[in-house]
Amino acid sequence: MTEQDFILKSYNSHIKSGTVKWSSPSNIALVKYWGKKDNQIPENPSISFTLSNCKTITEVTYTKKEGDDFSFDVYFEGEKNEAFKPKIQTFFERIESYIPFLRDYHFKIETSNTFPHSSGIASSASGMSALALCLMSIEEKLKNDVIQSCHPEPVEGDSEESQNYFNKKASFLARLGSGSACRSIEGELVVWGENESTESSDLFGIKFNGEVHSNFKNYQDTILLVDKGEKQVSSTVGHKLMFGHPFAKERFAQAHKNLANLKEVFASGDLKAFVKIVESEALTLHAMMMTSIPYFILMKPNTLEIINKIWKFREETNSNICFTLDAGANVHVLYPSEEKETVLDFIKKELAAYCQNEHYICDHTGLGANQIED
Ligand code: DP6
Repeated sequence: MTEQDFILKSYNSHIKSGTVKWSSPSNIALVKYWGKKDNQIPENPSISFTLSNCKTITEVTYTKKEGDDFSFDVYFEGEKNEAFKPKIQTFFERIESYIPFLRDYHFKIETSNTFPHSSGIASSASGMSALALCLMSIEEKLKNDVIQSCHPEPVEGDSEESQNYFNKKASFLARLGSGSACRSIEGELVVWGENESTESSDLFGIKFNGEVHSNFKNYQDTILLVDKGEKQVSSTVGHKLMFGHPFAKERFAQAHKNLANLKEVFASGDLKAFVKIVESEALTLHAMMMTSIPYFILMKPNTLEIINKIWKFREETNSNICFTLDAGANVHVLYPSEEKETVLDFIKKELAAYCQNEHYICDHTGLGANQIED
């Protein structure tokens, strides 16, 4: 598919108003997206587990308006929020050629997260995917209105094909809001970025279509909140620093290799191999930050304390626990659901002390976003 396939060609904007609502989860990358070209095209492929509990719930009320400007208000957890507006304005500018009705309506965007706001958990993946899905639901309504006016008989329910298109375009739009958001529409594993080992696209995320061993069913992710503060360097700035980075070429090639190897691991269920790839990816991501010009460090002393404790626990117990990191200090502790009891006990006794206010969030893999019907 190409960008052209995502342009909405005809719609009927006689509909005066309406409301749509979606809940969309966060995701955690196993092979990391770090570095992008123009138009949110990734420099390398990535793959992530879709999460289940950490999500954004967004309701969009659209009302027909006069005039040609974008018009929207944002409410975060019930309060009007001006801080989110510039990011949404940029998002609208990037997507308007694909959903031309954006200037026909005023949008009231009401959003909230299931995880605490100041937890250091990036909400851009869940937030941008939830908003993209709401816009897609509006597109569906305006499109169906055209079909119904041409064919007065009832339109058939969602065919697989139209569902497929809906998900792809939602992911395509979400990508233009925040790259990693394109991996939050479906679950439990999503690939984004062209590569030689899996079905994929640079334009949107696709459900991983390889074999997945039962060892990876309901995989657990406990997020240790080491630092709930605002990051000193945003992901967007970090991505830019991969331009002219001395190790960029090798890093991008490594991501392709790690994805190919993970594909084998998912089929075989080899958890030891999984641990090696995932931890290496996390540390490589941070190594890229430390070797950018200018260089920066997002890990905190407690991040390293936790990593060392995890390694010690693994050596002593032969557990398959491992860690991964996002662009921040928090640690995602990944482990098979079979080990849930022992690992949670270890986290409570030995790792919680390194978290701010001993705060951590228990999550696990999930199936993706859901529409909420009123
Ligand atoms: C380290 O998706 O937040 O989490 O496209 O600029 O919005 P933008 O960046 P973003 O980058 C996420 C980077 C990462 C790795 C990953 O999720 O793959």
